[in-house]
This record gives sequence, structure tokens and C-alpha cells, in this order.
Amino acid sequence: MPLSTATAVAHPNIAFIKYWGNRDEEIRLPQNGSISMNLGDLTTRTTITFDSNLPRDTFDLNWVRQSGAMLERVSNHLNLIRGIRGFSSPAHIFSETNVPPGAGLASSAAAFAALTVAAVRAAGIEMSEKDLSRLARRGSGSAARSIPDGFVEWYRGKEDSDSYAITIAPSSHWDLVDCIAVVETSHKTIGSTDGHKAAASSPLQAARVKDTERRLDLCRSAILQHDFDALSRILELDSNLLHAVALTSSPAIYYWLPATLAIMQAVITWRKSGLPVAFTIDAGPNVHVICEEESKTLLIEKLTHVEGVQQVIASGVGAGARLV
Ligand code: DP6
Repeated sequence: MPLSTATAVAHPNIAFIKYWGNRDEEIRLPQNGSISMNLGDLTTRTTITFDSNLPRDTFDLNWVRQSGAMLERVSNHLNLIRGIRGFSSPAHIFSETNVPPGAGLASSAAAFAALTVAAVRAAGIEMSEKDLSRLARRGSGSAARSIPDGFVEWYRGKEDSDSYAITIAPSSHWDLVDCIAVVETSHKTIGSTDGHKAAASSPLQAARVKDTERRLDLCRSAILQHDFDALSRILELDSNLLHAVALTSSPAIYYWLPATLAIMQAVITWRKSGLPVAFTIDAGPNVHVICEEESKTLLIEKLTHVEGVQQVIASGVGAGARLV
């Protein structure tokens, strides 16, 4: 491969119906389908250059040279793409992100979505959105959902070929905002990859998975009908189900801190008093509080005053991964 370069941007996403547990760890075939919204104000921009003169892959993230497990995961993903075209040139990857470091926000979705789109182009491969989503999935499951625009559903699928994500409504469909209440900035102790592995050990996982189609239907209709009430109910139920599984896995995983619960309780109180807000929590203690654009300023103000909240990061709905 002669010198070849491409740049792509992608956004992280927040899951409304969450991915938790794999049927196949190696190729990340999920136990259940999921639905998410891209976060347009948080961006990862990645430039990749394949260059046969390089001795090995190098990866710089926000100007810091990466090594160990991080570099290995990226190299393994590039091997899939190099394998498709049958070449072995090493690559230099330069990635910049405005997702605050240590905010405990899953950044792997944006990272692998941007890496996939840039690397596929730099390798000279033409690929459909569906196939880009399947490929991004192999790097990080939730990255499959950062490929399409806006509100996205990732199909569980029967096998590799039909487990990919599609847009169910474009980013312009509904001006939802994710206000992320950051309560801890140190790195989470048990990352999502290990959480997925532990899920099967919980006696509650089978019930959670069995009920997924019902939750996906409720969530999809709530989005399509702009029904915030219905969305709040399904959002909080799905998040609680994930944490019920984590808490009852062997070993048990406790993602919440006291401030996490304080925010959850505040959100429920605010909603009862007429402010349309709802929470969802990923594999960490920070709380994603979802609202419509018109409630954003008041919500941020209220969240800032909850004890234990260090920072609030807000993002509206975002586009899919794309070349720049
Ligand atoms: C709780 O996609 O980060 O955020 O496939 O191992 O990279 P890997 O896991 P990841 O898991 C995301 C878990 C979650 C829920 C979700 O985003 O659906």
C-alpha cells in the first residue's frame, strides 16, 4: 500500500435501551438489540495514514502516544481492515477528542466509529453504511450505533451479517439534550468489556434479555411520536435493569456512588413537579439526564446544585460518522 490517508469524525452515543452482554465476545454479537442517540457536541476526529515505511502501528490520542492494551485493540481492528484488502502496511493514527478525559464517558463508540470510517477509506475500500456499522461493532459494540445519523437502533441479528445499526429518526427529528452530571472523574474500575462478560453470571440477565423486544418497541414509538413521558418510563426502567444485572453478577459490580442515587432521586422529584426529565446510567457513576432543548438551561442549573456534582456536560443530538 503506497502512502494513503483519510480523516473522519464521529460522536459518542447514549443508549436508551442498552447493550449488556454478548453471545459472541470475539465478534461482539450482542445478547439484545439496543437504541441510542448520537451526542453531536462531543466529537472524535481521527486521521489515519497507512505507510509501508513505518516500522509498526502508532496511535496518538490528544497528542499522547498510546501503548499496551489501547494500541493493541486499535491494531487488531486495523488488521480486520487490512485483511479485507490483503495488505499489511502499518499505520499512524492521530486522534483528537473533546470528550473530557476521565469524565467516565464511554469514548470507545466515537473512537471506533471514526477509526473505521477513516481506515476503510484510506485502505481504498467502498463500503455501505450497514457494513461500516458491522465493522465498527467488532471494535466496540456501541460503535456500531455511532455510524448512522441521529436516533439509532442496533439489531441483535442472527449472525455477523445482520447485526448492524440503522437510523430510526434523523438528528433533526427531536431536539433532545443529554445533560451529563459528572460525579467522578477517575477511571472506572470495571469497564464495559468486563461488564459484558460478567452479565451472563447474573440470574436476572435472562429475564432482562427476554423482555428486550417489548422495551425496544416502546422506546422506538416514544421517539417516533415525540412522547417524552413514555420515553422517561422506558429509559429509567432499562437503565435500572442493566444495573440490577450488574449488581447481581459474580462478582457483583457496583457502578453507583452516593451522588448517583441523589441525582436519580432529584430527577424523579423534578419530573413529579412538572419538569420533563429522565435519567439513564451507563457502566459508571455519572448520570445522563435527558430533556428537551427548552428545559436544558433550568436542568443544568438544578443539576449543578446537587451535592457531589462536579460538572455538567450537555450535548444535543448528533449526526453519524463521516469523512472530512
Ligand atoms: C453500558 O460498547 O463500551 O454503555 O463492546 O466492550 O467496547 P465494548 O463495550 P461498550 O459497551 C457499552 C455499554 C453501555 C450500554 C450501551 O452503550 O448500550
